Amino acid sequence: MIDIQKIKNQFPILNETVNGKPLVYLDNAATSQKPISVLETLQNYYTSINANVHRGIHTLSQLATEEMELARKKVQHFIHAKNDYEIIFTKGTTEGLNLLAYSFTSQIKAGDEIIISYLEHHSNIVPWQLLCQRTGAILKVIPMDGNGILQLDFLERNLSEKTKIVSVNQISNALGVINPVEEIVRKTRAMSDAKIIIDGAQSAPHFRIDVQQMDCDFFVFSGHKMYAPMGTGILYGKEEALNSLTPFHGGGEMIATCSFSETTYAGLPFKFEAGTPNVGGNIALGAAIDFMESIGNEVFVSHEHQLLEYAQEKLSGIDGLHIYAERAPRAGAISFNLEGIGIASDVGMILDKLGIAVRTGHHCTQPIMDFYSIAGTVRASFAIYNTFEEIDILSEGLKKAKRMLS
Ligand code: ALA
Repeated sequence: MIDIQKIKNQFPILNETVNGKPLVYLDNAATSQKPISVLETLQNYYTSINANVHRGIHTLSQLATEEMELARKKVQHFIHAKNDYEIIFTKGTTEGLNLLAYSFTSQIKAGDEIIISYLEHHSNIVPWQLLCQRTGAILKVIPMDGNGILQLDFLERNLSEKTKIVSVNQISNALGVINPVEEIVRKTRAMSDAKIIIDGAQSAPHFRIDVQQMDCDFFVFSGHKMYAPMGTGILYGKEEALNSLTPFHGGGEMIATCSFSETTYAGLPFKFEAGTPNVGGNIALGAAIDFMESIGNEVFVSHEHQLLEYAQEKLSGIDGLHIYAERAPRAGAISFNLEGIGIASDVGMILDKLGIAVRTGHHCTQPIMDFYSIAGTVRASFAIYNTFEEIDILSEGLKKAKRMLS
C-alpha cells in the first residue's frame, strides 16, 4: 500500500494555499510540481559546483561535467536506450521536435510524405508544416473517430516508399488518449523506410519507456512534466538515425574542428548540444528520475490509473458534464465540458477561486477542438501526489461552477 501523503509531503508547493484554499493541483500535463530532492539538487549545483561543462580543466568544471554526464546515464537507463550518447539534452519536447524537423531538411525532397496524427500538439504539427514549406514535402494526417481513437487503416492506405517520417504522440495532451505506438511502428516498418518519431511528453511521466523495445528511431520528452525543473528535456535517437542528421544549432562544443573554410562536427551527443546547456537543470532531471524510481513505475501506473477511473466515475455523475474520448484507452488526463457553458475558462476561473488548478482552452491542439466544434475543454491531469479527496473537491467545484454559470 503506497502512502500518497508521504509522497505529497515531499512537494513544498502542495502545502500552499491559493485564494485562501488548500491548493489542489490538477494541471500536471502542463507541468508537474518538483520534490524537495530535485529542488535541493538544483540549489546544491548553484551553491557548490556551478561551472561550465566540458570546457575547463578546473575542479568545478570537472565536477559539473561529471554530474551532468551521470544524469545523462540516468536518462539512458530510464528509457532503456542502448548508449548514453544517444541522449541529447534539450530544453523540452518542442525543441526536440523542432531540432528533428530542421535537421531532416537535407533528406527530404518535393513529393516526399510526412505522416502525423489528428491528436498532435501544435509542436508536432507546425515544425513539419515548416519542413514541408522548405522542401515541397506533403503532410498527411491519421484521422481519428469521435472517441478520439486513431483510424490506423489510414496507414495501410498511405504508407509507401514516399513516406519519410512518421511522428505521433504516445498520449494525447488534450484528451489523455493512449495511442497504439507499437502498432504504428510495426505497420510503418512493414510498409516503408520512414523514420519514426514518438512524442513522449505525456507518456514519460506515467509509463515505463523502453525505446529499444518500442523500436522508434527518435523519442522526445520534457523533464518539467516529470518532476524536473523547467527548461529541461530529452531527444533520444538511435545512433545511426542521429548520425544521419545535420546539426540544428551551430556553436561551441558541437565542432570537431572549425576554420573559416570548413567545420567538422563533434560526435554524439555533442553534435546536437551547441552552446552552454542547462547544467543545473539537467543534473536535477537526474534527481527527478531518482525520485520516480524510488517509488517504482508500477506504483505510478496503478495509482494514476485509479485516479483516472475515480475521476471518470465522479465526473460522469455530474448532470450535463460531457467527457471527451471516454471510450478510448486513456492515461494521465480527463478532458470535459459542462454542457450549455460555452467558455471553459469561466469554469476554470471558478475552480481557481476554490484553489483548484486545471487547464482550460484548446491545449495547443486546435485541430482536435475543431473536430468537436468547440473552442476548448476543461482538463484535469494527474500526478503521483494527487489523491481521491482532491477529485472529490474537483467534483464539488464543478457542481458549484455549474450552479453559478447556468
Ligand atoms: N503541452 C502542455 C499542456 O498540454 C503545456 O498543457
